[in-house]
Amino acid sequence: MEVIIRPTTKEAVNLTARLIAAAIRRKPFFKLGLATGATMEAVYADLAAMNRAKEVDFSRVVTFNLDEYIGLPPEDPNSYRYYMNRNLFSKINIDLGNTNLPDGMAKDEIAEGQRYEKAIRDAGGIDLQLLGIGNDGHIGFNEPISSLGSRTRSKALTPATYAQNSVYFNPPDSMPKRAFTMGVGTILEAARVVMLITGKKKAGIAAKAIEGPITAMVTGSALQLHPSTVVVLDEAAASELKQTEYYNWVFANEPEWKPYR
Ligand code: GLP
Repeated sequence: MEVIIRPTTKEAVNLTARLIAAAIRRKPFFKLGLATGATMEAVYADLAAMNRAKEVDFSRVVTFNLDEYIGLPPEDPNSYRYYMNRNLFSKINIDLGNTNLPDGMAKDEIAEGQRYEKAIRDAGGIDLQLLGIGNDGHIGFNEPISSLGSRTRSKALTPATYAQNSVYFNPPDSMPKRAFTMGVGTILEAARVVMLITGKKKAGIAAKAIEGPITAMVTGSALQLHPSTVVVLDEAAASELKQTEYYNWVFANEPEWKPYR
């Protein structure tokens, strides 16, 4: 795992977008894993700006989102399909037919999980998975005690997640209590993972995921098992990390980070 701390949220977001754009430039037939949440909106705005400036081309990119609420159709403004169309897909030159999310309206939940896993496999696997982290440490919707070997499936959401996300729903209790999510095992198979964590509120959970023990209680900590993960944080989110001096030294000195300094 590598940890990069940028002074401001804007710089952390921009570095994340540049890492994604650079990876796509290296391999145009790219399989990109995407995340939702407030944190990602700025990343998608940066990617859309780079696309407009012809710095990155999405015409041959295939995307797989992490998760979707169960019971929300694509046209529901709170569905993740709607979020993705609004924040990214409608603003870049991607073929909508190449964008994948679990189907929140699928009748057979087990079959839907299997279908999604097969779609990822058939595409040749994910080249880069973008991740945020929930207040309870989840990645995707892999809530505490999710198996670290789990695959795409339906999952009941925790009260902490409900409190975090129901503010977007009107009324708040119309938020679904369950979601489809890629499993921790699915995420760990991505060739590369880029996680973005911003804001003071996430400082405690960021420290647990990055420097704490690997535990199903904080599924973000499973990334410690992944061979190629970069976690990008702003200073506020990094404020409870213990090894910041080391992380900053690596970023300042390792040649691979030169273009990003
Ligand atoms: C949701 C998503 C996660 C995301 C999290 C963080 O729960 N399922 O993938 O990481 O939100 O959201 P925010 O960026 O709004 O804090």
